[in-house]
Amino acid sequence: MPSRGAEESLLLHFWPEQSVAEALAAMTRAFTQEGLDSPKRDARFLLQGLLGIDGAQLLSASTRSLGEAAAIVSEGANRRLAHEPVSRILGRREFYGREFIVTPDVLDPRPDTEAVVDLALEVVKSSGLAGRALTIADIGTGSGILICTLLAELPDATGVATDVSPAALDVARRNAVNLGIADRIRFIATSGLSSCGNTFDLVVSNPPYIVRDEIAGLDREVKDYDPLLALDGGADGLDVYREIARNTLELLRPVRVVLEVGSTQAEAVEGLFAAAGARPLARRLDLGGHTRAVAMEIHL
Ligand SMILES: C[S@@+](CC[C@H](N)C(=O)[O-])C[C@H]1O[C@@H](n2cnc3c(N)ncnc32)[C@H](O)[C@@H]1O
Repeated sequence: MPSRGAEESLLLHFWPEQSVAEALAAMTRAFTQEGLDSPKRDARFLLQGLLGIDGAQLLSASTRSLGEAAAIVSEGANRRLAHEPVSRILGRREFYGREFIVTPDVLDPRPDTEAVVDLALEVVKSSGLAGRALTIADIGTGSGILICTLLAELPDATGVATDVSPAALDVARRNAVNLGIADRIRFIATSGLSSCGNTFDLVVSNPPYIVRDEIAGLDREVKDYDPLLALDGGADGLDVYREIARNTLELLRPVRVVLEVGSTQAEAVEGLFAAAGARPLARRLDLGGHTRAVAMEIHL
């Protein structure tokens, strides 16, 4: 049953006797009332995740009572009503067909970031590097989705994952262990690529790129739950791109660089790298039709 608390925030409380179908309906109604973007989908995924069942089981369990799960369903539903993303409540998120641990220390991986993986794999293929023992650097690895996915897709590759947040690196390491690829990755707590060596075939990154003054206006799901370190790109959003461009100047060549960019940043980022001697190779659009990933190459 939804109720309004002292500060008029909507709260849900479920009892063990209530059915799964009743919980699903109440969550969908409350999420809609709260103005969440995808109330029906969120209610379904959250309930499935909290009960540890899939979509088909959710349907067949609809008349079953919540039982002991009533307390965790109430807590999970109320966290979503406070705009915490479903993946954070469940502590996991699927990316490129694999499951990753997500904690408060890392950016909640976005589906749009799959464009970076697609473009990086395309560049590996078109540069004739497929099947070689590539070395890949992932700058600002967060949960490790980029380096872990690339190494899982490229079984002969090895990599370095950096982050200024040691807590984020711990999450990336746990994800690499779960995927059975930890022995091919070095995790280094550092800024950019400092102290990581200078021989990489491919550098990938999804750096923080939000303009600092725009962070306060982001959705609550982002500004209240993603770490500031993962969002803040400085006064023009480009600070970490500048750092990566400086880093790539010091690498042995040729090297390819594949970067996620904000929806209006592709030209500015390519411009920064052109000044470091890079030439554009290709771009990739995201699900909304914006340029989300750019690839460049720096020659000898
Ligand atoms: C936007 S998140 C991306 C995380 C992950 N790669 C992903 O795509 O989900 C950026 C990450 O870069 C890290 N970071 C911020 N500034 C950095 C820097 N100068 N050098 C290395 N990592 C940095 C943050 O701690 C954060 O984990």
